[in-house]
Amino acid sequence: MSSQPLISVFLLLLVGGSVLESSATLDPIIRLPTTSDGLSHGDDDGLYCASWHLAAETNNAGGWKQIPSRCQSYVKSYMTGKQFDSDCEIISNFSLAFASTVEMDPDGKDAWIFDVDETLLTNLPYYMDHGFGSEIFNESCWDGWVALAEAPAIPSSLNLYNALKQMGFKIFVLTGRSEHQRQDTSKNLELAGYTGWEGLILRGASDRGIPATVYKSERRSILVNGGYRIHGSSGDQWSDLLGFAVAKRSFKLPNPMYYIP
Ligand SMILES: *[C@@H]1O[C@H](CO)[C@@H](O)[C@H](O)[C@H]1NC(C)=O
Ligand SMILES: *[C@@H]1O[C@H](CO)[C@@H](O)[C@H](O)[C@H]1NC(C)=O
Repeated sequence: MSSQPLISVFLLLLVGGSVLESSATLDPIIRLPTTSDGLSHGDDDGLYCASWHLAAETNNAGGWKQIPSRCQSYVKSYMTGKQFDSDCEIISNFSLAFASTVEMDPDGKDAWIFDVDETLLTNLPYYMDHGFGSEIFNESCWDGWVALAEAPAIPSSLNLYNALKQMGFKIFVLTGRSEHQRQDTSKNLELAGYTGWEGLILRGASDRGIPATVYKSERRSILVNGGYRIHGSSGDQWSDLLGFAVAKRSFKLPNPMYYIP
């Protein structure tokens, strides 16, 4: 693709006959590729939405309830294309690189925490039917999807999970899902290939209405008080990772579809 303008320039040089004459036409021809942003969206949406996505992932955007409507096709392309898988894979790789530097203690208290939705499992099939996050969250609809226990694993997360388990980390699954979804959640995790966790922690009745950051921090705190050393934490939301009793390293997976405060 990029050789096309070069060939045109070369031809002009031949046709133009003099270097001086052709250099006048060189400039606009060389600038040609930059007039297209190289994205498939055809207009400014691609540029804007890539910026919005970066701002959302880094939390510069703060809280949001829906994706910008102009970004539905961007989010669809990102989530269903190769970029999402590659982004998840590199995070897995960095996680594993860090994990391999941990000096494991024979006391069995070296721990790693995983969130469930958009971290171990992907709910992409659900969000494909719900505008990739452009619709307002509908709890009863969502609960119906959870009950199906059909969410697939994110392959790179499954690889990381198994590698950490093999290295001797105790795995804690800490999710914002409710206690009444325990059976469906563990069934879904197992069907997706996840086994052998040390604990599966869900929101109990007393956690209702508590912000995710507080709920997850409190649960990590209980683990720390129980003698666990939380080396790593993997989540798609900042509220999975921030607060207190935080892991030594936190790993943020991409999620341009929804934001949990
Ligand atoms: C992740 O690591 C694997 C194994 O080393 C490698 O093949 C793959 O290219 C890496 N992926 C990325 C996105 O860096
Ligand atoms: C949520 O989804 C259910 C179907 O699962 C539907 O009956 C209900 O009207 C929806 N609620 C809103 C506020 O859209």
